[in-house]
Amino acid sequence: MITKSVDQPRRQTLGVCYYPEHWPEERWEIDARMMADAGISHVRIGEFAWSRLEPDPGQLTFDWMDRAIETLHRHGLRVVLGTPTATPPKWLVDSMPDMVALDREGRPRGFGSRRHYCFSHRGYQKECARIVTALARRYGQHAALAAWQTDNEYGCHDTVLSYSDAARTAFRDWLGQKYQSPDRLNRAWGNVFWSMEYRSFEEVDLPNLTVTEPNPSHLLDFHRFSSDQVCAFNKIQTDIIRAHSPGVPIAHNFMGRFLDFDHFAVSEELDIASWDSYPIGFLDRDTHNEENKKRYLGVGDPDNQAFHHDLYRACGQVRNGDAEGRWWVMEQQPGPVNWAPWNPAPWPGAVRLWAWEAFAAGAEVVSYFRWRQPSFAQEQMHEALLLPNAEPNEAYEACCRISKEFRAIGAVASPTRSDVALVFDYESAWAWKIQPQGRDFDYFDLVFRFYRALRRNGISIDVVPPRVEAIADRKLIVVPGLFAGSESIVEALGKSDATILLGPRTGSRSDDFQIAEGLPPGRFRSLIDMKIRRVESLPPIVDVPLQNGGSFDGWREFLVPGEGVEVARTSKDGHAAQLRSGRVSYLGGRPNDELALTIVGEMLAQAGVDAAPLPEGVRIRDNGNIRFVINYGNEAADVSALVAGRDLLIGQQPLAAREVLAFETLGS
Ligand code: GAL
Repeated sequence: MITKSVDQPRRQTLGVCYYPEHWPEERWEIDARMMADAGISHVRIGEFAWSRLEPDPGQLTFDWMDRAIETLHRHGLRVVLGTPTATPPKWLVDSMPDMVALDREGRPRGFGSRRHYCFSHRGYQKECARIVTALARRYGQHAALAAWQTDNEYGCHDTVLSYSDAARTAFRDWLGQKYQSPDRLNRAWGNVFWSMEYRSFEEVDLPNLTVTEPNPSHLLDFHRFSSDQVCAFNKIQTDIIRAHSPGVPIAHNFMGRFLDFDHFAVSEELDIASWDSYPIGFLDRDTHNEENKKRYLGVGDPDNQAFHHDLYRACGQVRNGDAEGRWWVMEQQPGPVNWAPWNPAPWPGAVRLWAWEAFAAGAEVVSYFRWRQPSFAQEQMHEALLLPNAEPNEAYEACCRISKEFRAIGAVASPTRSDVALVFDYESAWAWKIQPQGRDFDYFDLVFRFYRALRRNGISIDVVPPRVEAIADRKLIVVPGLFAGSESIVEALGKSDATILLGPRTGSRSDDFQIAEGLPPGRFRSLIDMKIRRVESLPPIVDVPLQNGGSFDGWREFLVPGEGVEVARTSKDGHAAQLRSGRVSYLGGRPNDELALTIVGEMLAQAGVDAAPLPEGVRIRDNGNIRFVINYGNEAADVSALVAGRDLLIGQQPLAAREVLAFETLGS
């Protein structure tokens, strides 16, 4: 249920990820005091501690955890308790070696790091239920408990898809339920092609180790199944926790730019969506623009964090609606990380900028990963709030400053519903990964181009699932690359008063992954009378320049307008590039930055949304009555026009490099 959001102030706060089992017990007291001194209130513990919670089968040793929680509690700190199921201990794996996932080549994913399990393995699911029950019974009612975290980063290290026997058996069951008869499956997948027809579900294998590409419909169903397995695995834990720990919210920590399961679906069972934000670590994969990478090397892409904040805010609203929706940053980068191709240090101001950007987007908690840099094991080069010798590091000082600023700004509201919705869909990401048709066609990248263009126009955006309630009450709805589009969403778009921008590839396939009936954009032809007769993908050495500026790159479509549809844009080589029918437009290619900025600007104007392009590196986020202005750039920015003489709650104009300011938009 989505209700109109209210400006309900919530107190934002800081957190940290802590591993008491890594440090001598005498140290815990000092750590807890230092956390409290820095203004930290939430401490996540436990998510990798299985071998210490149960060193031998059935021998539960929770006494150290009791004492760790008591120590934190004594200092007024609140605990976020992680279930340890991302790291099954050695004895458990040895007791049922077939619980590990198999990779696409059929190789087992061995013990010695983490996430070495298959979501479909019944025996492992039972073991998880057992340890989670024990934890929930013991700590479920503890006064210090603020929230639970299930597992850790589902899918990290490419672990959603498993090609194990357990996965094969479960996949066959899933197909049986979906299709009821092999004949229906054969038709849906088009298995007459290359004699791929099955006589029973038992004959269907997993889509790996085929000679050439497997059937795309087979692959898409395997993605859907694998995503459902993540949901089911998570639900085993949330059901247990709700039974033993009533009223305590449950979170999971999602990742950035990770699409292998449907996060909206997993969020059905979560009270808090959270994600792990590593802006500098992600920069390398965020952009293929080398200039951008250089410019933002020590602060991260100016739109990447915000995109995920807006996406996970929507996830946090799935279960409880807009007004009650909750989201956090569960892990925030504090310094250089250890896992990117290169690991630069944050530039001055960056750590504080990230925190304020998250709070501006409605985060309740920004929690740093991690408290103290370990001198051992895999992540010894990952910085933390404390150095390995326990001296405070720079991010510790940043925490002290941010928590003082809370007093100046008061409680930040949860953002009001935006007039602008950008539709994001996990199935579409799978579909275009399965059949990109051009080597560099990437769904995330396509959606992100529109997001960036909206944000550069000074807009606060909601990134939403393709669900009817999520697109209600909007002025502009942007729908790039939605591969099929359900009947209900198309109908809701048809009834809405919003200005709508569709394409490219939107509506081009059926739910079963066949070319849309009557040609693309399939169901969306009820919104705009048109057809697409041909598409082409293009290598990066060429682009398709348009009349009046901008170009398509990598992808373009040949659009045929129907009755009453106008050609709003044309390519220089004489083809229709954008069609318009009243409030609905269709864009027939992947826009470069210039084109995206212009088109989005036109759409915002048509929709009656106030917008104006911002200087390079400057972004805004409106949150209730507070407007935040953020400068990702390397030089001071004159933002006096945005500030318009208002009193500043935090920060200063001109806005120095990597600084943030905020002011109230009402009252003056
Ligand atoms: C996250 C993970 C943490 C830690 C961190 C390092 O992906 O959840 O456990 O590994 O990365 O940046």
